[in-house]
Amino acid sequence: MRRLVRETDVLPRHLIQPLFVEPGTGVRRPIPAMTGQERISPDVAAEEASRCRDLGIPCVLLFGVPATKDPAGSGAWDERGPVHAAVREIKKAAPDILVAADLCLCEYTSHGHCGVLDHGSVRNDATLEVYERVAESYARCGVDVVAPSGMMDGGVASIRRALDEASAHEVAVMAYAVKYASAFYGPFREAAGSTPQEGDRKAYQMDPGNAREGLREARLDDSEGADILMVKPAGPCLDVIAKVRAATEKPLAAYQVSGEYAMIRTAGAAGLIDERAAMWESVRGIRRAGADIVITYFARELAKEHRSKGTH
Ligand code: PBG
Repeated sequence: MRRLVRETDVLPRHLIQPLFVEPGTGVRRPIPAMTGQERISPDVAAEEASRCRDLGIPCVLLFGVPATKDPAGSGAWDERGPVHAAVREIKKAAPDILVAADLCLCEYTSHGHCGVLDHGSVRNDATLEVYERVAESYARCGVDVVAPSGMMDGGVASIRRALDEASAHEVAVMAYAVKYASAFYGPFREAAGSTPQEGDRKAYQMDPGNAREGLREARLDDSEGADILMVKPAGPCLDVIAKVRAATEKPLAAYQVSGEYAMIRTAGAAGLIDERAAMWESVRGIRRAGADIVITYFARELAKEHRSKGTH
C-alpha cells in the first residue's frame, strides 16, 4: 500500500553526480572534508562516468582542480586542462552519459573569485567575455551541458549567444538561477581550493533571506534562454524550489551542496542519525519541493541502493 500511494520517487534518472577532476592519470585522492568523494584524474573520471551510466544516472557534473592558478584564471579555457580532458575521455568511454561542466573562474584564479578582479571588485561585463570563451572551449571538447555558477548579470544570454555563434546549438545551459551566499559551500571550497583570498562572494551571490529576489533571478535566466534552471543550496531553500517550480515550465534542478552532504555524513559517522535514511529523506524532500533533477554527492550511493533494494 505504501508504494501505491507514495507521491514522490527518487530514481537514478533524477540524479546528477558531481566529480572533481585534477591533472594526471590513475589519480584517486580522497577529499577529507567530504567522506566518500575523491579528486580524480580524467581517465578515472571516464571510469566513474561509465559506472554512473551503468547505475542509471544520466549525467555527471565536472569541477576542475587545476595544477596552477593565475590572476586571470586562464586554466578555465585551457583545452589541455583536466576538465576538458575528462570531457573528451568520458565521451569516448561512455558516449551515452551526459557530461555537464561547471563554468566558473574561482577554481582557476589565484584570488579565488568567480570573475575578473579589478581593484578588489569583480567586473561583470569583462567576466562575461571570459565565460563565453570558456563555453566555446568546452563545446569544442564535446560537452553536453555548461553550468555557469558565477552569478554574473546577463551571463546566460551571453553564453547562449556564444554557443549559438559557435554552432553549438545542442549544448544546453543549466543556469545557477538562484544561488545564495551560503555557509554550506565550505567543504567544496576545501575540495576545489577555491576559497576567496580576500573578501567574500556576497556582491554576486544572493542574500539567503530573499525569496522574491530568487524568483526574479530565475525568471531572468529563463528569459535569457536557460535550458535548465537551478536552485542552490537545496535543503535550506525548499520554499524557493517550490516557488520557482510554480513560476516556470523549464526543467528545475536543485543542488544538495557539499555542506549538506558533509553534515549527513558526519552525523551518521558519529552515530547521531541513521545515515542511509537521512540520505534518502533529504533528497526526497528536495524532489517533493519540486525539483525534477537533484545534483547530489550521494547520487552513486542512492542509485546503488535503488538497484539492490528496489524502488524508493
Ligand atoms: C563555484 C561553485 C561553488 C559551488 C559550486 N560552484 C562554490 C562557491 O560558490 O563558493 C559549491 C558546491 C558545493 O558546495 O557542493 N562557483
